[in-house]
Amino acid sequence: MGLEKADDAGVYKVSDDLALIQTVDFFTPIVDDPYAFGQIAAANALSDVYAMGGEPKTAMNLVAFPLKDMDISVLRQIIQGGLDKLREAGVVLVGGHSVEDKELKYGLSVTGFIHPHRVLTKKNLQIGDHLILTKPLGTGIINTAIKGGLASKEIINTVTRLMATLNKDAAEIMEDYPVHACTDVTGFGFLGHLAEMVVDSGTGARIQANQVPILPQTLNYAGMGLIPAGAYKNREFFECHADVSPGIDPLISDILFDPQTSGGLLICVEGNRAEDLLQALKQKGIRDAVIVGQVNSEPKERIVVG
Ligand code: CO
Ligand code: CO
Ligand code: CO
Repeated sequence: MGLEKADDAGVYKVSDDLALIQTVDFFTPIVDDPYAFGQIAAANALSDVYAMGGEPKTAMNLVAFPLKDMDISVLRQIIQGGLDKLREAGVVLVGGHSVEDKELKYGLSVTGFIHPHRVLTKKNLQIGDHLILTKPLGTGIINTAIKGGLASKEIINTVTRLMATLNKDAAEIMEDYPVHACTDVTGFGFLGHLAEMVVDSGTGARIQANQVPILPQTLNYAGMGLIPAGAYKNREFFECHADVSPGIDPLISDILFDPQTSGGLLICVEGNRAEDLLQALKQKGIRDAVIVGQVNSEPKERIVVG
């Protein structure tokens, strides 16, 4: 893809009809349950292949583990969580590497296949396209509440299930529609990732803030000030590309910059097919999917949030 514009994953053309997609992701635990953490780490690592429109094929584990302070059974549960997600994705674990470290970290490198003509990058947004988001926002804020011991069991279960959900179905469905660009919403937050898309494409976009799906309790937690540092960093870095209208609740704008773990796909599809794609996603059980906005010619490289 070239390194001047970072995309979700690296792409290497093997032949006229086959390219490899390669990506790597790992992080420290975000939930207490080791098995769930393994599932989330795998779903997150696989997501960048789906965001390129590809099909993940093989994966390798990356492990840093505090052998002296933690029981090895914790590691077994993490690996099992990752392995079960890989199975669900139809991906084969072919190896891995582990080191002893003070802080536990887990993730995977993933390799996938794609036809070179079907690679979906962050550029290529076209005027009149609609934007579909497939998962609700708020995982960063809720994870902050979890760390502070303020989240209920119910909300922990909801956010854990969401983060462990593969973007596989969404990626497979979008193959049948005129999709022009795609990314997954992760660390830069919804507006950060969309800002990259409009900048790379030289277009503008308009977002209907009240359409953007949000996890339950996120607004409450945001109101309590449980905003992760990453959200402020994202705002600082990307707000020059976002015109948030004064009528928008500042807490909603915080949520739009909230860094996501294993977030949904942000799909840019031809405007006249957006409703069909949305219905297809919903039929497949992706109930949170919403058309959140559209691509405009102006203001260039800026997102109007209204
Ligand atoms: Co990505
Ligand atoms: Co990534
Ligand atoms: Co992409």
